[in-house]
Amino acid sequence: DPNHAIDLALFGALGDLAMRKLFPALYHLDREGLMPENTRIVGLARQEHDTAEFRKLVSTALQKRLKKEEQDKESITRFLNRIDYLKLDFKQAEGFEQIRQWREGSERPMVVYLSVAAVIYGDICRNLQASGSLDEQTRVVVEKPIGSDLASSEEINDAIGSVFPESRIYRIDHYLGKETVQNLIALRFANPLFGTQWNQNHISHVEITVAEKVGIEGRWGYFDKAGQLRDMVQNHLLQLLCLIAMDPPSNLDADAIRDEKVKVLKALKPFTGEALGRDVVRGQYIAGNTEGQPVPGYLEEEGANTDSQTETFVAMKTEVANWRWAGVPFYLRTGKRMPEKLSQIVIHFRQQPHYIFDPDQRNIASNKLIIRLQPEEGIALQVLTKDSGLDKGMRLRPGPLHLDFNNAFPKSRIPDAYERLLLEVMKGQQYLFVRRDEVEHAWRWCDQLIDGWKARETPPRRYPAGSWGPVASIAMITQDGRSWYEDY
Ligand code: BG6
Repeated sequence: DPNHAIDLALFGALGDLAMRKLFPALYHLDREGLMPENTRIVGLARQEHDTAEFRKLVSTALQKRLKKEEQDKESITRFLNRIDYLKLDFKQAEGFEQIRQWREGSERPMVVYLSVAAVIYGDICRNLQASGSLDEQTRVVVEKPIGSDLASSEEINDAIGSVFPESRIYRIDHYLGKETVQNLIALRFANPLFGTQWNQNHISHVEITVAEKVGIEGRWGYFDKAGQLRDMVQNHLLQLLCLIAMDPPSNLDADAIRDEKVKVLKALKPFTGEALGRDVVRGQYIAGNTEGQPVPGYLEEEGANTDSQTETFVAMKTEVANWRWAGVPFYLRTGKRMPEKLSQIVIHFRQQPHYIFDPDQRNIASNKLIIRLQPEEGIALQVLTKDSGLDKGMRLRPGPLHLDFNNAFPKSRIPDAYERLLLEVMKGQQYLFVRRDEVEHAWRWCDQLIDGWKARETPPRRYPAGSWGPVASIAMITQDGRSWYEDY
């Protein structure tokens, strides 16, 4: 489709994200025929390289990331031929005219992708503008984290906003590019069965778990300043929460959806003094085991400062204080070095108003909708049936109605989130990107937590690598007579 051909200027082209995710994603789009013929890419970084050398680096990165059967020579050559390289110091105005020259004569919109630290987004935008490289079609793509609190995110958003209008700013939260996450919209708004039940009359509580098996992966310098709340909750978990809790948008337009998400963020209950101690658990992993292999604790990771109080785990109970959700706890938890990689949402439905079965079994008697985002995408609805057998009387047995996406809808390859996001940017569609007010409301809510932690000075609770986090996070939910759902 020649309509969405672009000139892509990739800042930070030698960085980890570019090599690990962006080039492989772009390659896949090209190989699948989704990248128009005349799309061109320029990699920008400070290092001295020429285009030939840079293509070699990209080629090596692709070989590392792609499966054998995905690396056909023809596709690789075609893809590499689209790529140029320019050496550029992002903080200096001089040199930016190279970008204008690179685009000379092109009528395609330019997409500027900032895969660099957010503190220099402003410099780059201003330098691009001053060099005359921008026009009314240029889009800009920025990565999280946007700032480390509300004030710093406003500053960054102002800097980008002084050059680009909101309608051409694409803020990435890669969770929105996951097929399963988009499926939340289909599940909720295409199925009357769920649509009618989706409120405090029928739902008792909601769990959102995003557990990772990995530790810090050599990113201590970045991570220690952020911590799990800023790194995961402020963006990915709150986005999931918004998609679960939002009211139906009137259509699928970017702003219709984002308006509804913002309402949820605004309705999130703040943590007051007492709730901070009771409803939030911070953790930090100590040495332990992952799949039987010993792994170091957070403070023993490469480059670690041994006094760090940064959390690598957080669990909390929050509430969306509005008509639909009043009184329904949302339990969130996310951590590094958990026993497995698992992202899962569990919707717990209320019990029947009148219960006629064995009183012993009262606790199992509730329906659950389990939405598994990763590793294997699927949906299970736990229903209660009669235990089979002559001698069982009217014993109940919970069992799943199960939809496994890979079996039900086999496909050869699950595209990475970045492929979808890059394709949407090419097409100029914004609904999978985060609007400025979403980022800022999410920060506002996180800030009161971070400030509360600072004031209390409580150190994070320790948990061994390879466990489900501090025991206090289990206590937090059991004191409500509930437990984290771990089966599937
Ligand atoms: C990133 C975080 O945004 O998401 C990382 O910075 C985290 O710390 C990653 O590991 C998790 O993403 P995914 O797609 O593997 O669940």
